[in-house]
Amino acid sequence: MEKLMIAGGRPLRGTVQISGAKNSAIALIPAAILSESAVTLDNLPELSDVAIYTEILEELGATVDWNHDRMVIDPSRLISRPMPNGNVKKLRASYYLMGALLGRFREATIGMPGGCNFEPRPIDQHIKGFEALGASVTNENGALHIKAKELHGAKIYLDVVSVGATINIMLAASRAKGVTTIENAAKEPEIIDVATLLNSMGAKIKGAGTETIRIEGVDALYGCRHSIIPDRIQAGTYMIAAAATRGDVIVDNVIPKHLEAITAKLQEMGVHIYEMDESIRVVGQTDYESVDVKALVYPGFATDLQSPMSSLLTQTKGVSILTDYVYSNRFKHIPELHRMGARIKVEGRSAIIEGGPLTAAKVKATDLRAGAALVIAGLIVPDGITEITGVEYIDRGYDHLVTNLSNLGAEVWRQHE
Ligand code: EPU
Repeated sequence: MEKLMIAGGRPLRGTVQISGAKNSAIALIPAAILSESAVTLDNLPELSDVAIYTEILEELGATVDWNHDRMVIDPSRLISRPMPNGNVKKLRASYYLMGALLGRFREATIGMPGGCNFEPRPIDQHIKGFEALGASVTNENGALHIKAKELHGAKIYLDVVSVGATINIMLAASRAKGVTTIENAAKEPEIIDVATLLNSMGAKIKGAGTETIRIEGVDALYGCRHSIIPDRIQAGTYMIAAAATRGDVIVDNVIPKHLEAITAKLQEMGVHIYEMDESIRVVGQTDYESVDVKALVYPGFATDLQSPMSSLLTQTKGVSILTDYVYSNRFKHIPELHRMGARIKVEGRSAIIEGGPLTAAKVKATDLRAGAALVIAGLIVPDGITEITGVEYIDRGYDHLVTNLSNLGAEVWRQHE
C-alpha cells in the first residue's frame, strides 16, 4: 500500500503547469471510437483513469499508441464486444462506451460503471436519451444491454442537468438518422471540448456550451487531431493550495474564463489574484474572511472543488457555509478533516465550517476530491507529518502531483508500506 506523506507549513511558491482535463480526456477517448480512422489527442493528462481506458479500447480491438501527453487511437478494427465486467467497473466514465458503441455499432453491453462512489450516482437520464433515440435498454445481471435496429433523431429534455448524459447522448446522436436536440443540457467546458472533437471528426453539432444542443446525425465520422482543454479542477485545486499555504503561485496553461467562479470566491475571501492570458497568479494572505460557497452546475462554483475548498475554509476568521447543490452528500472527507482538528458540522447538503488550526493525523482519501481536500489540509498543518492513504483515488485526477508540489517547495513524498 502506498501513502502520501506531507510535512506541511511551507508556503507554495513558483509556477505549476496544468495538464489536459481529466473529465474531457475520459470522454474524448471513447468518442474517438466513433471514427473510421485514427484520431490523435494532444495535451492528454497522464492519469490512471486514462490508462484503464486505453486497456478497454485495446480489449475492443482498437490500436492505441500513448506517449506522454499524446495518444493516437486507431479504431478501424474495433468490434462491439460485450464488456459486463473487468476494467469498465473501475471507471465512472466507462458509461461513455454505451453512447459511443451504440452510435457506431447500434449495440453495446457494458457493466454498470464504477469509479468514485461518494454517493449513489444514477444514470437514468443517459438511458432515457438512448431510448428516445430508438434503443432498447435492458439490465442483464448488472450490465446494460443497449440495442437499436436504427437510431433516429429525437427531442430530449433532461430532467437533471447532467454532464455525462449530455455527452453520452451527443455521442450516440452524432451517428443517428436526423436531428436530435438536447434541452436542459449541461454547459460545462468539457462538453464543448467533446463537441469540438466530434465536429472535427465530421459531426454536425451546434450549441454545445448552451442549454440547447442540436445534433444532425451523419453517416460516418473520420480521424482528426485535437488538443484537450486544460483541467480547470486541477487548476482550481492548485489555486486553493496556494491560498491555503499563504503562498505565491502562477498556475499556468489555463483558460482563466473557466476559473471565474473559484477566482471570484478566493477574491471575496481576501486572496489576491492576477489574471493573465493563459495563467493566473494567486497570492495568499495571512487573514481570510469567511464566505458562503454554493456548488452548482457550470458556470457556478464546481462541485469538484467543493471538497478542496472546505480545507481552505478552515483558515478563515469566522464561520463559512459550503452547500453542494449538485450532489446531496459529497462529504466523506469531513470525518477525515475532523481527525485533523477541523471544526465542521454537516447539516443536510451543507457543511458549516468554523475557522481554526489543523493538526497532523493519519487520514484516508475515500474518493478523488476528498483526497485533494486532505492534501490541502496536510499542506496547511504547521508541524508534524500528515499521512494520507487511498492514494490511488488521488492518482485518478492529479498527474505528477508529488513532483508539482515539490517544485513549489512543499515537502511531500510517497511511502510504500
Ligand atoms: N444525475 C441523475 N441522473 C443521471 C445523471 C446524473 O440523477 O442520469 C444526477 C447525479 O446523481 C448528480 C447530478 O445529476 O447529482 C450531476 O451528475 P452528472 O451526470 O453531471 O455527473 P457525471 O457526469 O456523472 C461528471 C464528472 C464528475 C463531476 C460531475 C458534475 C466525469 C467522469 N465526472 O460526472 O467529476 O462531479 O460531472 O460536474 O466527467 C470528479 O472529477 O471528481 C468527478 C466526480
